[in-house]
Amino acid sequence: MLTHSSPLTFLLLAPFDAAVFTSDPVPRCLTDNFYGIYGGQGIFRFQDPSCFSMQLSGSMESGSFIPMSQDVQQLVWVHEASIDDSLKTSQHETDVYDFLQSLTTGKLAAGPDYMNQEIFSEYSSEPIFELLHSTPTSALFSTSREFALKVDRILPPFWKSALLPASPVSFIPIPAPAADHVKSLLKSLKFDPVISSIVNSISFPQMKNDIRFLTGEDGISGIVSRHSFSAGSRVAANWLLQRFEDTGAKCELRPFLDGFAPNVVCRYASSVDTNATVLISGHYDSRGSFGYQRAPGGNDDGSGVTALLAIARTIARRGITFRTNVELVAFAGEEQGLLGSKAYAREMYDADANITLMIQADMLAYHAPFEAPQLGLPLSIGSTDVAQLVGNISEIYSPELTVGFTPACCSDHQSFFELGFPSTQVFERAGPIADPMYHNSGDLSERSGYDMHQVRSIAKVQFATLLHASGFDLSEDDLQ
Ligand SMILES: *[C@@H]1O[C@H](CO)[C@@H](O)[C@H](O)[C@H]1NC(C)=O
Ligand SMILES: *[C@@H]1O[C@H](CO)[C@@H](O)[C@H](O)[C@H]1NC(C)=O
Ligand SMILES: *[C@@H]1O[C@H](CO)[C@@H](O)[C@H](O)[C@H]1NC(C)=O
Ligand SMILES: [Zn+2]
Repeated sequence: MLTHSSPLTFLLLAPFDAAVFTSDPVPRCLTDNFYGIYGGQGIFRFQDPSCFSMQLSGSMESGSFIPMSQDVQQLVWVHEASIDDSLKTSQHETDVYDFLQSLTTGKLAAGPDYMNQEIFSEYSSEPIFELLHSTPTSALFSTSREFALKVDRILPPFWKSALLPASPVSFIPIPAPAADHVKSLLKSLKFDPVISSIVNSISFPQMKNDIRFLTGEDGISGIVSRHSFSAGSRVAANWLLQRFEDTGAKCELRPFLDGFAPNVVCRYASSVDTNATVLISGHYDSRGSFGYQRAPGGNDDGSGVTALLAIARTIARRGITFRTNVELVAFAGEEQGLLGSKAYAREMYDADANITLMIQADMLAYHAPFEAPQLGLPLSIGSTDVAQLVGNISEIYSPELTVGFTPACCSDHQSFFELGFPSTQVFERAGPIADPMYHNSGDLSERSGYDMHQVRSIAKVQFATLLHASGFDLSEDDLQ
């Protein structure tokens, strides 16, 4: 345990619980020393034990203390996504062992099959990281900023990474009026035949075409990878911008970090005077297998982006106008630690944006071949009221889906949730990730277990939630 005379700074790592921030009085030791949520864990700076000892209760008591040297550079958190037992092969265990071995020695170990060889030849000669903490499924280390932005290329399959900010950030709980707004939507929710007709007019063949463009399976797009640093990600960004603009949205490419593909941000202005905005999103960047250029991202997250596009195309076809502002956003930099959405959520927060609801679609396509179609909602990260709203809307408009919860966590909705915007994620499974092609160069849309009908059913849910939350009108010549 910690000795109170220690001159060192510690980090405290403990299961994240939003309730910690909303207790009365607000625990300043926690709110002023927060670094964010990483793999469902909250990380805090722990400098003044007397201050903290008052606050450590419940789940926080089981936290780990991590000593921090004075000269840390960029802190990087890595963890294994929640994966189904079927994915825990001996090859996977070997990959993870090799990776943790690299972290322990501080140098990239020669030869793991999963590792990107370009990165290996560039960085293998000298120590590049200092390990601060590790478990069999997570680690925290310090490295150069430059290397930190490329760290997804040395991760074993199924592992994710995120960068800690240079100094603590505030966690913003969802303000009471915003939470009440969601509660009132939930309370007044009932079947609307017009919404049903709209969401059921999403075109399945169009979705099949769109995903094949994004993965390069159509042989026309030429996209080999949509990794944030790849040429294909720029092709995808420009194509998405055009397709969304074709539907009447105003779009822009918003760069957020040098070298990264930009966010694609599209907006339909409200037909009435309001600053309320409903935001739906996915991420168009992808990751492949290490050592391979190809990163088709058919499920992760071509499926979520295809859903978004299907919604936009239906908005245009049915002549829908909204009574709040509506934003459709395709993020980049998700695979390097939610970088695109963190930048955009921060901009929205700084601009005092009134985002009344945010729903991220990430991985909608896969379920095991013997399983029924599903909708998974996050167990830990996000607003529980929004998750309930989405779950109830699913029961109404997509009864073919079995709704449940997933421990798989931390897509772009987390960036909005951390800043007090009511947010959730829609996911493919009421359980952990089971897609054997997760973060794999074989993540194509033509394969066993890839269910475009499930993608469409979940798109119906995301769309119906948007229509309920925003309110809408149809053009007069729409023939329901
Ligand atoms: C946000 O929009 C909602 C819905 O129109 C409105 O009730 C609320 O007052 C707005 N909140 C802020 C902070 O502007
Ligand atoms: C948004 O509109 C509400 C009234 O509907 C107003 O109270 C609030 O100040 C507005 N917010 C901004 C950032 O303009
Ligand atoms: C739908 O709402 C009811 C309460 O209104 C709740 O008990 C139920 O769990 C909700 N369903 C889902 C899937 O969230
Ligand atoms: Zn994803």
